[in-house]
Amino acid sequence: MAAAAQIVEGMGADIVDVNMGCPVPKIAKHNAGCSLMREPAHAASVIRAMTSAVKIPVTVKMRAGWDATEINAPDLAKRIEDAGAAAVAVHGRTAAQSYTGSSDWDLIARVASGLSIPVFGSGDCIEASQMVERMQSGVSGVLVGRGALRNPFIFEQASALMSGRPVRAITHEERGRFLLEYIELLQNERLGESAGFRHVAPGMGARPVSSEFPVSGESRGPARGHDKWVINKLRALNSWYTKGIDNGSHLRVRINAAESIPHLREIIEDFFLAPVSQ
Ligand SMILES: Cc1cc2nc3c(=O)[nH]c(=O)nc-3n(C[C@H](O)[C@H](O)[C@H](O)COP(=O)(O)O)c2cc1C
Repeated sequence: MAAAAQIVEGMGADIVDVNMGCPVPKIAKHNAGCSLMREPAHAASVIRAMTSAVKIPVTVKMRAGWDATEINAPDLAKRIEDAGAAAVAVHGRTAAQSYTGSSDWDLIARVASGLSIPVFGSGDCIEASQMVERMQSGVSGVLVGRGALRNPFIFEQASALMSGRPVRAITHEERGRFLLEYIELLQNERLGESAGFRHVAPGMGARPVSSEFPVSGESRGPARGHDKWVINKLRALNSWYTKGIDNGSHLRVRINAAESIPHLREIIEDFFLAPVSQ
């Protein structure tokens, strides 16, 4: 882990964040992710080795604990602070809960009150008002996951609430323009990225970026390479983004059926930007 942190630092990263929060069995069964929380002394020694090996801050994300019988975030977070971590983020569910139940913000508040380093809370900030409310738990900040996927404007809205400004209503058109901008951003993503940043299967060698991710074209045929990757990213966002929108399920089905980027843009423009017939 210390060597991995040095590689990340060498790549120019600003921080190294250690994920002790992932509950997914294929990660956790390899002594990674949340299973590290089950060995607090080992976890702390990993963080100590990392903080000694790099100059950039080492931060840790964790859950409440492994399961209801092993809730140890307050103790582990303290050990991690003593090991030199710069900040800790806590998702107040156990690994066993995955996404069931709710995030325990009393526990998060307990972690925050026991530490001197910044503690960030995570879990169930779906509305901007919840972000503001949870800032009262003594945390230095809140992390927003699913709420941002449903409504990327949540940060602007929370910031308005925090400073006493009225919350701006987001128009249908803005939501559409956001998706179009996201597509453009993804189309430009990874171009010119150095090979060192990508995972390469053993024995495959590094292929030049251009052959792996050809620049998006305007072809109407089924997307391949980078275009396919862009479409898949949109599909992944789509399942969250269309929740709570009028006719959202219809849009979801149409986006899932899009076979090319021009087709995808057409669907979005048609749904969000076309003049409403009277
Ligand atoms: C699509 C998705 C990807 C996530 N990826 C990560 C990750 O890479 N590392 C991490 O520590 N947590 C990750 N999380 C967990 C979130 O950071 C967060 O702790 C959790 O979703 C609870 O917060 P929420 O209720 O605001 O979604 C992810 C969550 C989602 C929904």
